[in-house]
Amino acid sequence: MNILKSKLPSVGTTIFTIMSQLAKEHNAINLSQGFPNFPVDPVLVNILKRKSSQDVHQYAPMTGSPELMTQVSKLIYDNYQRNIEPSSELLITAGATQAIFTTILALISPGDEVIILDPSYDCYEPAVILAGGTPIHVQLGNDFLPDWNKIEDAFSSKTKMLITNNPHNPSGRMWSEKDMSELESILLKNEKVILLSDEVYEFIHFENKHISAHSLPSLFDRTIITSSFGKTFHITGWKMGYLVAPENVMIEIKKVHQFNIFSVNSVAQSVLAEYLNVAKVDELGVFYQQKRDLFRSLMQPSSFELLPCEGTYFQTVNYKAISQQNDVEFCKELAIKHKVAAIPISVFNKSNLDQKIIRFCFAKNDETLISATKILCQI
Ligand SMILES: Cc1ncc(COP(=O)(O)O)c(C=O)c1O
Repeated sequence: MNILKSKLPSVGTTIFTIMSQLAKEHNAINLSQGFPNFPVDPVLVNILKRKSSQDVHQYAPMTGSPELMTQVSKLIYDNYQRNIEPSSELLITAGATQAIFTTILALISPGDEVIILDPSYDCYEPAVILAGGTPIHVQLGNDFLPDWNKIEDAFSSKTKMLITNNPHNPSGRMWSEKDMSELESILLKNEKVILLSDEVYEFIHFENKHISAHSLPSLFDRTIITSSFGKTFHITGWKMGYLVAPENVMIEIKKVHQFNIFSVNSVAQSVLAEYLNVAKVDELGVFYQQKRDLFRSLMQPSSFELLPCEGTYFQTVNYKAISQQNDVEFCKELAIKHKVAAIPISVFNKSNLDQKIIRFCFAKNDETLISATKILCQI
């Protein structure tokens, strides 16, 4: 007798695991999962070495170490000129995934609707379902930018939260001033809706500066913003991040955080608190822009059509000129036959809409990008 009833019956192995496994099995160059393959800053490594022999190994305070919280509020002030009160408006989390999960669990109840913009990162929907809420998926435009009429139409009396992701994974698109003011005006019309703004790639932007939800003071009393040190400092495996929320909302989030994780890795917190004194987040965009430009110029002779990439470390391409296969099959063949792994975009769409677009991660050393593009140009 099967005594188990799955709470997430439609969740299987993620495409990231599938493609990384395929890459391994077939010895393919892995441009699928979003993680860097170059060394982290030696300054960070040295701080880690030194700190590891100090008294940093016991539980950190529940909301985060005071030193790290001070540094993060300074980071937010320096970048967005927003003053937050670290003790009441900031929480250190085990990556953005935990921040998002904890927030949704704390704020969403059965019957609540949560608007998710597709293609969307895969951790939003399961959290909404586990909280008993109803995900309402709205497709972004073909250019992966928001269609505000469609988004506005999705609001109902049950809407409790809108989740946004800017700069956007998987497309690499960023929202303009106009998009941000559309967002603001829709939320001002729907005054009971909470905004959960996933900004894990906030420091990876190229020609244009990222416009954060930190720039919308009229919404501060119901905006939650999350970010990831994993993305900012090339340390995805550390699973470190933070979230900002107004005090009354944060009280509820902290109640769940307390029993979900209690407190976050003490060694990592202590290292990051010191590293933030010297880290230059404003150089991150330049660093990744060089990688983006290298990847795009090497791909120029290929039959793939390069789509706009304004931020993040993802480059999307259309492969219509090469194949009419669906994007999942195309990616499998790319990994097995051509030995380059990528991610199909349809898996980020609830409807599985197949636009014949795939995503490459260019957070890789130059040799990897050169070897991969050599192959891709011959297809
Ligand atoms: C859009 C988006 N949100 C959240 C996350 C999760 O970040 P973390 O690794 O800090 O949990 C990722 C990681 O890839 C992401 O791309």
